[in-house]
Amino acid sequence: MTETSVGPLVLLNPGPACTTDRVRAALGRGDWCHREPEFSELLASIRSGLSRVLNVGDTHEAIVVTGSGTSAMEMAVISAVRAGRSILVVRNGVYGDRLAKIAEVNGIAVHSVTSAWTEPADPEAVRAALAEHPDVDAVAVVQHETTTGMINPVGAIGAVAREAGVLLLVDAISATAIEDEGHEDLHADIICGTANKGLHGLPGISFILCSAKGIERIQEVPVRSLYLNADTYLTGQRKGDVPFTPAVQVCFALDEAIKELEERGGVAARVAEYKERAALVRAGFERLGLSILIPEEHRSNSISMIYLPEGITYSELHDALKDEGFVIYAGQGDLAKTFFRVSTMGELPLPVLERFLTSLETSIAKIRAGR
Ligand SMILES: Cc1ncc(COP(=O)(O)O)c(C=O)c1O
Repeated sequence: MTETSVGPLVLLNPGPACTTDRVRAALGRGDWCHREPEFSELLASIRSGLSRVLNVGDTHEAIVVTGSGTSAMEMAVISAVRAGRSILVVRNGVYGDRLAKIAEVNGIAVHSVTSAWTEPADPEAVRAALAEHPDVDAVAVVQHETTTGMINPVGAIGAVAREAGVLLLVDAISATAIEDEGHEDLHADIICGTANKGLHGLPGISFILCSAKGIERIQEVPVRSLYLNADTYLTGQRKGDVPFTPAVQVCFALDEAIKELEERGGVAARVAEYKERAALVRAGFERLGLSILIPEEHRSNSISMIYLPEGITYSELHDALKDEGFVIYAGQGDLAKTFFRVSTMGELPLPVLERFLTSLETSIAKIRAGR
């Protein structure tokens, strides 16, 4: 990995993330028809590659969909709950709320276990809610709440769900190939992921990974959507077919990103890389007197939610850093006025992050000097 693999703007937003020249070049493999055998081979390579590289090759089958991460979330939610049953959603950020919203708009009854945006979900609260609501068919939880950069104890919540005999659905969209608790540790029945975060592919392709129990469930639920019915995709993809026109060239890029990840030591090596980046930037924030909202023990390996320097607005900081070639990210909801986010997802060599810290320091000084 060289510094030149990063484009003119260094993206420090949580996806779409910077990619390598190799992944970007894969877009140019050519014009292919998705009904030809070469596409079936590509699809098979992506499906087996995803479950293999994410260490669930023996237990989970991948279903690939053209759409952003939310399409995978919607496919998962509508596939997890049988007619007349409900879903229990663990909510402590924007993406937990989105899981609940998806269920609502699809006419699925929702129960919620809610905690503050700064508080990881409590598995015991999930246990109590399951005891209170015997109609629950699945528990849905976000592994890494990108809203704040906080990790939820998904493995422990999964153990509670298993004990109660309900399905576990995990939105691992911003955790895949980044966080310590790997997909194999989650024991989840349906896991949502996307190409353009920790996998370092390009935006436009997402997927769900399903256990045998998850597959049984998606075959049992009523059809709730024409485009996002998981069983239609599963039946077709097992034969090398896709129901609708896929983003063919984005598939090329994902296939290449999976190969690149495996050649570089797989998920274990990538997680170690993310930890190294997080340590580097967080030491830099501390040197600059900038504090992070989430306590260290609950932080993800990729996102830091940082208090804005005193007297400086998000747009001032964003614009000054963009002039230096770095794109930072705003907080969501009530957090927008007080915080900014820095994500170290994607291809980001350590020297680039060191350069970012220098630019952060000079940008803060420049904004203050200009007053
Ligand atoms: C945890 C999580 N879930 C879902 C999504 C939605 O993904 P998309 O914006 O690709 O639809 C995101 C996007 O950042 C996310 O971080």
